[in-house]
Amino acid sequence: MNGRDQAGVLRDIVSRIDQESEKKFGCPTIAVTSGKGGVGKTNVSIFLAKALAARGERVLLFDGDLGLANLHILLGASTTNTLRDYLIGKCTLSDCIVEVEPGISLLAGSSGNMGLANISPRDLSRLLSKLDSVLSEYDRLIVDGGAGISESAVALTLSADQVLVVITPDPTSLADAYATIKILYSRGCRSFFVVINMVESDEESVAVEEKLTLLTDRFLGFKPEFIGRLPRNRKLGSMIRQDRSLLAAKGLGDFNNRINLVAQQIISSTKESERGFFGTFLNSEETA
Ligand SMILES: Nc1ncnc2c1ncn2[C@@H]1O[C@H](COP(=O)(O)OP(=O)(O)OP(=O)(O)O)[C@@H](O)[C@H]1O
Ligand SMILES: [Mg+2]
Repeated sequence: MNGRDQAGVLRDIVSRIDQESEKKFGCPTIAVTSGKGGVGKTNVSIFLAKALAARGERVLLFDGDLGLANLHILLGASTTNTLRDYLIGKCTLSDCIVEVEPGISLLAGSSGNMGLANISPRDLSRLLSKLDSVLSEYDRLIVDGGAGISESAVALTLSADQVLVVITPDPTSLADAYATIKILYSRGCRSFFVVINMVESDEESVAVEEKLTLLTDRFLGFKPEFIGRLPRNRKLGSMIRQDRSLLAAKGLGDFNNRINLVAQQIISSTKESERGFFGTFLNSEETA
């Protein structure tokens, strides 16, 4: 299949994902996304996982940055097998999952792999189908998305029950977040949580919230749900430079309090009736 055909098939699949599926799959799922890269998706995914695990959930973190995976590095996890190994038939999907601390498991991606970055619709479908079969062992799947709006990134995001958009007060982040929301909205996504990361003050957050709301309200006719303002915290960057797992971070103060509030909001908005991850994707692929 050439590049254009492949993108076309993925687009067809994605465009049908908004149709509700009767079938219930796996566990509640949340995709963490953004427009601009480097806004803190991976940090938010990790600390959200930690906060949810502290509330008794068994969380699976999935590195959805298929071509440039780095979640395992930030978690300080040593992984023997990656998604690539699974896709080339070297191991089972379960072999790619490691428990990084009680209640938090990781499905590691593979970095610098063009093949995975341009994953074919069939392989993506196969991967999601298999992943779905292990989800019953977890209470929550968090997909740490890659930056950008490739078809596979959009497909992964749309397949989740909940979408969490991470932005920063940087104007380019806001513009890119809006562009991403617009694309997801045009493909049927109707509910967006937004977390503002690296904020210096509540006043700054209010201004960002107003600007994004103005855009979505005026051009798309809805208001996103702002569920968190996470302060800039220098410790986060220094942990990585010291080659330490973010899970070992202590004394994060207000950052910790606020990510706990985000976790609470996500738990309380998780409805029993939500369609499961990948259900509509798989149904669409069958008829593609
Ligand atoms: N609240 C914060 N305070 C200070 N630094 C932060 C904060 N959140 C993230 N960072 C720093 O920002 C950088 C990017 O974070 P992260 O890797 O989580 O972003 P990302 O959106 O996942 O990036 P990518 O798009 O490349 O996947 C890292 O150096 C991280 O330490
Ligand atoms: Mg990341």
